[in-house]
Formats: sequence, C-alpha cells, structure tokens
Amino acid sequence: MGRMTGKVALISGGAEGIGGVLGRMIVAEGGSAMLADVQLDKAKALAAELGSNADAVALDVRSLEQWEAAVAATVARFGKLTSLCNIAGISEPGNTVDVDLDSWHRHIDINLNGTFYGCRAALSALADAGEPATIVNVGSMLAHRANPIMAAYCASKAAVTHLTKTVALDCAARGLNVRANTVHPGAIRTPMYDRYLNAGGATPEEIEVAMASAHPMGRVGTAEEVAQAIIFLSCDDSSFTSGTDLNVDGASAIRS
Ligand SMILES: NC(=O)c1ccc[n+]([C@@H]2O[C@H](COP(=O)([O-])OP(=O)(O)OC[C@H]3O[C@@H](n4cnc5c(N)ncnc54)[C@H](O)[C@@H]3O)[C@@H](O)[C@H]2O)c1
Repeated sequence: MGRMTGKVALISGGAEGIGGVLGRMIVAEGGSAMLADVQLDKAKALAAELGSNADAVALDVRSLEQWEAAVAATVARFGKLTSLCNIAGISEPGNTVDVDLDSWHRHIDINLNGTFYGCRAALSALADAGEPATIVNVGSMLAHRANPIMAAYCASKAAVTHLTKTVALDCAARGLNVRANTVHPGAIRTPMYDRYLNAGGATPEEIEVAMASAHPMGRVGTAEEVAQAIIFLSCDDSSFTSGTDLNVDGASAIRS
C-alpha cells in the first residue's frame, strides 16, 4: 500500500517543476492528484499521462475565486480533499533599491497571497474530509537565510513560513484534524532553476558551480527529493508534526 493511498491532493503549480513531480509521486503512492496551474495545457497533458487518478484544473493562485473553484472541482472529481500542496511560486532577482515594483507585487501576489488564498479556500473542505488532512506550503532556504539581491522573494517566503505556523496553531486550537507545515528547498533542478542557469552574466556551467557551492553537500537538489519531503508531511507518517519547517537544502540554511 502506498503512503498516499486514499488521499486526494490539490497541487498548485502542478504542471511542471516540483509540483509536477509531486503529482506523479502522489499517484505512484496510491493517491489522487488534481494538478492546478496557469499552464493548463501542460497540467492536462501530465494528468492524461498519469491516468484516472489525476486530473487538471485552471488556477491562477492570485485569485481567491479561482482557488474556490479548484477546491470545488477537486471534491467533485475525487469526492474529497485531504492534502493541499501550495507549490506555485516565482523567483526574480532585485534588491530593495532597484527591484522592479511590478516584480515586488508579483512575488507578494503569487508567493504570499496565493498561498494564503489556497489555505483559506481549502480549509473547510480539508476539515470536512473527516480524516487526517494536511497543508504543505513551500518556502525556500532563502526564507531562513536572506540574500541581498532577492528582496521580494526572501520577504514573500519568510512570510509564508510564519503564515503556515498560524494556520497550524489555528487548526489545532479549533480542534480540526488538519496539520500545516512548510518545506524549504535549496536550489532544485527545475524549469525555474534552468531560467537562472540561462540568465546570462556567467556561463550555465559557472552558475551551476556557484549554486552547488551554496550547499554544504556540494550539489543542487532534485524535485524528487523535495517531493519526498512533501509526501512525508502529507501522509499519516507525520501524524504529530504540525507547524514545522523541513529543510531540503543540503544543509544550506544552517551553514556558517
Ligand atoms: N527550484 C528551486 O531552486 C526552488 C528553490 C526554493 C524554493 N522553490 C519553490 O518551489 C516552488 C516550485 O518551484 P519550481 O522550481 O518547481 O518552479 P517552476 O517555475 O519550475 O514551476 C512552477 C509552476 O508554478 C506555476 N505557476 C507560476 N505562477 C503561477 C500562478 N500565478 N498560479 C498558478 N500556477 C503558477 C508554473 O506555471 C509552473 O508550473 C516555488 O514556490 C518556488 O519558489 C524552488
């Protein structure tokens, strides 16, 4: 029996990257996955590949109404929602003085507001599932370890970290059978990572070496390694774990 047998997950950012790999892994572990993304065609193609335990829905996480529709679509399709996975996010460089204001607001709208809307829209469906339910939000090693040229990204991910703890405490205080935790990836090989590799200023090989050296383990991570941590926090193996931060970053956040 797989670790996600009987679970129904709604995954924002489920078309590709960490969210896409997570959807694949949840289905392989016996669960069902609704892949929710602005890239609907990609999400549909992946869902078709995964078979009858996967489906896709259009979602721009900046819209609470679209979140509510995605939650309703998940319950209509699979009968319940047990596992909200807030994976969608963006990352663009910029320091406090020169960060483009549109970029600042985009980070807050997608990374922070999008995660908040997801929690808000899904909570009653998660509680109504009548069984252990979970929220996993995605932060970053940069939520712990500030980077001067990533002002908007660091601020948004640090806020997600604390938001998650408020949700965990609120669910516990209200006696809901819902846990909430944050997974913090280091640099992970995904389409987002590839955009940084090809951003210019240095060769992709030089950027890869610099990225790897930020991790005491000496390499960047894989989406599978992050998805494994999300599965752990979404399944009953972590039944007494709520409000925690799980770093999947090759010891990057704690380096001296
Ligand atoms: N890749 C890394 O190195 C890394 C490191 C730390 C944290 N993270 C975080 O992990 C999460 C996933 O990152 P990734 O590397 O897989 O990114 P990615 O860019 O490879 O994939 C992100 C997915 O989110 C979707 N998305 C973007 N904006 C959206 C929106 N407004 N509404 C709905 N979907 C949207 C994209 O279409 C895409 O499918 C993000 O929150 C990111 O900040 C990634």
